[in-house]
Amino acid sequence: MTVHLQQEQQTMLWTLAMHAHDAASTRPILGDRYAADLLDRVDDPPRLGLSLAGNTPLICARAKLIDDAARAFLARHDEAVVLHLGCGLDSRLLRLDPGPGIRWFDVDQDPVIELRRELYGEREGATSVAASVTDPGWWAQVPDDVPRLVLAEGLLMYLDPEGVHTAVTHALTPGSTLVADTVAPWVTWIAGLQPAMRAADTGFLSSTNDLAAAAGAVNLEDELSLVDATATRTGGLTSTAIRLFALASGGRDAMVLRTYRRP
Ligand SMILES: C[S@@+](CC[C@H](N)C(=O)[O-])C[C@H]1O[C@@H](n2cnc3c(N)ncnc32)[C@H](O)[C@@H]1O
Repeated sequence: MTVHLQQEQQTMLWTLAMHAHDAASTRPILGDRYAADLLDRVDDPPRLGLSLAGNTPLICARAKLIDDAARAFLARHDEAVVLHLGCGLDSRLLRLDPGPGIRWFDVDQDPVIELRRELYGEREGATSVAASVTDPGWWAQVPDDVPRLVLAEGLLMYLDPEGVHTAVTHALTPGSTLVADTVAPWVTWIAGLQPAMRAADTGFLSSTNDLAAAAGAVNLEDELSLVDATATRTGGLTSTAIRLFALASGGRDAMVLRTYRRP
């Protein structure tokens, strides 16, 4: 099936290709057993150049930590809503296989969701929503009578500060937990130099500061350095290089995973 993916929409094929690359490696970090098959079924799958392939451990460590956070939430709640924002073609729903009391929403922009529906089909308890997370309209249909987990992986940096504010304030209603990764301000600048980003005519528009501003007084429950998390999940020269990078000023906070919880 062919859909026309524009700008940041293309990036979800990169993360999918990185998941497949990781799963085929001798020491997988995430071990996403669905990614390669999904990638095979996409027209014109991306070829990971050296610089994108080099991001595989970081992207897969991020996905692993978010899977772990979601599993811990699902272990505590039989009845809940999970919003998987900017889901791309990620197989998290299959990896976590939530129970019957969980209402799961996969949310992304129109062409991505069209492709996702084609590749995944329907699943009981799961709804795919074709909408921008910055559009207040669709948030109204999200049930608010049970605890809510909102996952935003590789998403917020593609929104401008106003978009981050809209998405985060709608996400963090009472009884909600938000798990989202975000980048340091200097990374938004560096990302624009990445050849694949330039070719896709996309870039990072917001940073950790914008997430912090949007979350306001909501409790920041946890912050993990994704640089450290990657170093501990890799070995040899890769791990050494990442550990050295973490020592540099601002290195450790280049990309972080934050958890906000509103009682
Ligand atoms: C880097 S990909 C991450 C995909 C997935 N979370 C993963 O880790 O594989 C970024 C995703 O965010 C989606 N996205 C960007 N802006 C969005 C918006 N305003 N509303 C909904 N999704 C958006 C893109 O379409 C894309 O699927």
